[in-house]
Amino acid sequence: MLKLCSDMRILCNIFNICARQLYKKEIQLSKKICNPTIFPAKSLSTSCTIKTSDEFCIDKPMKWPSGKPANYKFHQETEDILNAQINAELKAFYYYLSMSAYFGRADVALPGCESFFMQMHHEEHEHSLRFLNYVKMRGGRVNLCPMQSPPDQDWKCPLHAFKTALDLEIEVTDKLVKVNAVAEKHGDLNASDFIITGFMEDQMKSINEMARFVAVLSGIGDQALARFIFDKDLLDHHVEPKFNILRLKNASKWK
Ligand SMILES: [Fe+2]
Repeated sequence: MLKLCSDMRILCNIFNICARQLYKKEIQLSKKICNPTIFPAKSLSTSCTIKTSDEFCIDKPMKWPSGKPANYKFHQETEDILNAQINAELKAFYYYLSMSAYFGRADVALPGCESFFMQMHHEEHEHSLRFLNYVKMRGGRVNLCPMQSPPDQDWKCPLHAFKTALDLEIEVTDKLVKVNAVAEKHGDLNASDFIITGFMEDQMKSINEMARFVAVLSGIGDQALARFIFDKDLLDHHVEPKFNILRLKNASKWK
C-alpha cells in the first residue's frame, strides 16, 4: 500500500513538471504571435528604386482616358470668353456692393438706394454662378480672375451711382453680345441659346430701368425732398421684401 502511494506521488510530480513546461511553451508561442517581426520597408521592396514624396502625391492634374476634356464641341475660345463673362458679372457684383454700402452710411442714409443696390449685388452674384455652372456643365474649366474694385467708392449722389450702374449694364450687355458672337462662330447652339434666352431680355430690362432712374434723377438736382421721395419710391416699388433694409431692421428689432 505504501509503495502504491509513493508511485502515485511520483506520477503526480511528473505530470506537474510536464504541465509547467507546456504552459511555458504556450506563453512563448503567444508572445511570438503578438509581436511579429517587422522588417524594414526597404527590404520588402521588390525593386531597387526608392520613390520620392512627389511621386506619391495624388494632387496631380487628372486626365481623362482620351487625354482630352470630356465635352461636346465646346471650343476653347468659347470657354475663355465665358470665363471672362464670369469676371464681368463679378465686377458689377462688386460695384453694386460698394454702392449699397455707401447709401447705407449714417451720413448718407438713403435706405431705398441701399436696398436696391444690395438687390442688384445679389442678382449679379446669381449671374456669375450661372456662367460658372454652365462652363462646368459643358466640361470646361473655370478660371477665376481678380475682381476689379471701383476706383472711387465715394458715390456722392444717387445720380452718379445710377449713371455708373447704367454704364455697367451696357458694358455687361456688350460683352454678352460678344460671347454670343463667339458661340455662333463655332456653331455652338447651346452656348448661344444660353446667352440669348437666359440673359438678353433681362439685360434689356435692366438697361431700361437704369435709364429711367437716370432720367428722373437728372430732373431732381440737389433738392433734398425730391431725393427723399425718389428713395422711398425705390424702396416701395423696386425692391423685393427680402432686400428691404428697413423691413429687415424692424424685423430684427421686434424679435
Ligand atoms: Fe448680370
